[in-house]
Amino acid sequence: MEFYEVVNEDGQEYFRHMKAIPTGGICLACHGKTIAPNLISKLDELYPDDKARGYSVGQIRGAFTFKTKL
Ligand code: HEC
Repeated sequence: MEFYEVVNEDGQEYFRHMKAIPTGGICLACHGKTIAPNLISKLDELYPDDKARGYSVGQIRGAFTFKTKL
């Protein structure tokens, strides 16, 4: 779920870090299979293009990543 390392690219050292974004229980309120009707209508109003629904706990949604010079 999380990984980091120091790499050397052309003589320059970099620290690289990557961390997965898992679906937690709290996320299901808006991204789960059953969403409260009043919440659905608000989400549809504010985010008409939202397709990020139907997820379950533990599914990976993406990852944070960064790289910096040492
Ligand atoms: C209060 C409602 C709500 C909750 C709770 C919520 N989200 Fe979201 N999330 C949204 C909405 C609405 C969007 C779409 C935003 C847009 O289109 O600009 C979104 C977008 C996303 C996206 C980008 C779309 C995609 O599928 O790539 C990710 C990733 C994401 N949410 C992850 C999470 C995670 C992980 C959690 C729990 C830690 C979470 N969200 C909790 C409402 C919510």
